[in-house]
Amino acid sequence: MLAYRHAFHAGNHADVLKHLILTQVLRYMGEKDKPYTLVDTHAGAGGYSIEGQYAQKKGEYVHGVSKLWDAKDLPAPLADYLDLVRAFNPDKQLRQYPGSPAIANLVMREEDRLRTYELHPTDFRILQSYLDSRPNTQVADTDGFASLRGELPPPSRRAVVLIDPSYELKTDYAKVLAALREGLERFADGVYMIWYPQLQLLESAQLAQRLKAAADASKRGWLHVRLTVQQQADTRGFGMLGSGMFIVNPPFTLHDDLQACLPYLVEKLGQYDGANFILEQRAK
Ligand SMILES: C[S@@+](CC[C@H](N)C(=O)[O-])C[C@H]1O[C@@H](n2cnc3c(N)ncnc32)[C@H](O)[C@@H]1O
Repeated sequence: MLAYRHAFHAGNHADVLKHLILTQVLRYMGEKDKPYTLVDTHAGAGGYSIEGQYAQKKGEYVHGVSKLWDAKDLPAPLADYLDLVRAFNPDKQLRQYPGSPAIANLVMREEDRLRTYELHPTDFRILQSYLDSRPNTQVADTDGFASLRGELPPPSRRAVVLIDPSYELKTDYAKVLAALREGLERFADGVYMIWYPQLQLLESAQLAQRLKAAADASKRGWLHVRLTVQQQADTRGFGMLGSGMFIVNPPFTLHDDLQACLPYLVEKLGQYDGANFILEQRAK
């Protein structure tokens, strides 16, 4: 049984980075008339109560989306993302946080296909009811890693794949790499977005290099971003120092969008003087 519940972490610094990038990638995909598919292999519940006991228990959103909520000087891509969070909170108070399926639901057009996978039975049911009326949408309670191959190539030959596991099990690191390799074999033109936690753990430290090697082997361009907000893990070596996203076949606009936002995120979300970011890319 899976213990991880994203509700404990909703709206934290990692969600801000991930959902900022997801928003910009989906905006770019929507610029062409031709529909596209978003496959969200680890979708979560879709949306989360910030006022509920899970999010309140750790209060991670306090160091994440809360720091941006009242800001008047947001760089344009961050303002775009924040507008989506605001649209999810119609009474203008930060009470709920949109997960990746909700961000997708707000940005995607009716003709675009949304495919979501979520194994936790409670989060699956919440997600199913949230997306119930969205056309061209499938919500499945099967393994997102194993199901991905059946989604590729997509019918319109345009797709974004978000791979966002909890890394509750160390085997997730190898599965992410295998999923990217297989995905690129089946559909080399897809935009693949992989989120990972920055931990004091060998698997976490090595992941970006391995993903780069996989993209290079397929002769695909990539972009890697990492936002470090904390200096130290707890005494057992647990706790996220930050998080990263690795994107294969990124929109050509993404690098400049992130360059405009990352110094701001370091300033607002950094929890120590040495908070920093990495932004690197390789063209095809
Ligand atoms: C980090 S959370 C997802 C957050 C979500 N993508 C978002 O941005 O709002 C990871 C989710 O994956 C689910 N999960 C874990 N292993 C899975 C698997 N093999 N297939 C599908 N879902 C899985 C967990 O129950 C959890 O809800």
